[in-house]
Amino acid sequence: MTQGSRSNSVRITEVGPRDGLQNERELVPVATKIQFVDRLSELGIPEIEVTSFVSAKWIPQLGDAEEVLCGIIRRPRTIYSALVPNERGLESALQAGVDKIAIFVSATEGFSQRNTNGSIEEVLARIAPVVSRARSQSLPVRGYVSCVIACPYDGPVDPSQVRTLCSRLLQLGVSELDLGDTIGVADPDSISLLYEALSPIVAPGDTTLHLHDTTGHAIATALRALEIGVRSFDASAGGIGGCPYAPGAPGNVATETLTKAIIDAGFDPGLDYQRVAEVGRWIRQQLAGLRGASA
Ligand code: HMG
Ligand code: MG
Repeated sequence: MTQGSRSNSVRITEVGPRDGLQNERELVPVATKIQFVDRLSELGIPEIEVTSFVSAKWIPQLGDAEEVLCGIIRRPRTIYSALVPNERGLESALQAGVDKIAIFVSATEGFSQRNTNGSIEEVLARIAPVVSRARSQSLPVRGYVSCVIACPYDGPVDPSQVRTLCSRLLQLGVSELDLGDTIGVADPDSISLLYEALSPIVAPGDTTLHLHDTTGHAIATALRALEIGVRSFDASAGGIGGCPYAPGAPGNVATETLTKAIIDAGFDPGLDYQRVAEVGRWIRQQLAGLRGASA
């Protein structure tokens, strides 16, 4: 579980190499992906979601997961994780030597079908053996719940539905709950309501919050979450990202912007936001170059 609400330190997981790149249409060269991860781990980021072991038919951009994971420099203090949708993905992730996996389920049927080609129950049945096997090998498991505020297909989401999914994931044995505002529509009040609804089953300090930034409220939302007691956030350098199965979903909240906001609020993310911003600028330039070359 995460570090609890009384601590002053805040943990940032960098998801740019996975959530940031998965939506890019132009294939990003393996060498650029490796450099991106290496530059991020040089900054001392404690955890990096490096890639996904999903179907390359669904996410062609991340079809090189094994090459990327095997090509990066593994720094001892960094956790290198990957997204896994099923047992086949777990097998490949284990072979590539991941430190941690992330499974994902949607709070809504619409996104579940579009993103994973199955109902919520079917996806839970698919991931149950994944969590069980990972646990038997002492591999930590992040459990994402997507669409915790709203769904691109089903509209606004009742927080009690998110609570049900979180309970199911905890029953399966995930070691971390990650709440995904997939389409970036959270604001401070909706995040307060969400955590209120979750309070019978999980404390804010035992969750991670995964914000995308569509409406410009992501930082205000993160600051409210800090007040409530959340101490773990996902972000992507340069604010790159989105999900191809969530139309309109923009980038994740930018790691550099979130880092600065956390510092300004008197907390310690253990990162230098200016150095993060350099990496953010660099990856945005790489992506702009690829898009320009194909235009
Ligand atoms: P399916 O089409 O129902 O399953 O996909 P399938 O078993 O019929 O497989 C289809 C093909 O994929 C087959 O190949 C399989 O072998 C292959 P074929 O026989 O046709 O040549 N396949 C695989 N290949 C590599 N690795 C695998 C794998 N599994 C099957 N692990 C499936 C079901 C779940 C696999 C598919 O829907 C999928 O991969 N979906 C992933 C979509 C995705 O990654 N979306 C983005 C991530 S979620 C997100 O962004 C939200 C998040 O950021 C949080 C938030 O913001 O809220 C996490
Ligand atoms: Mg996301």
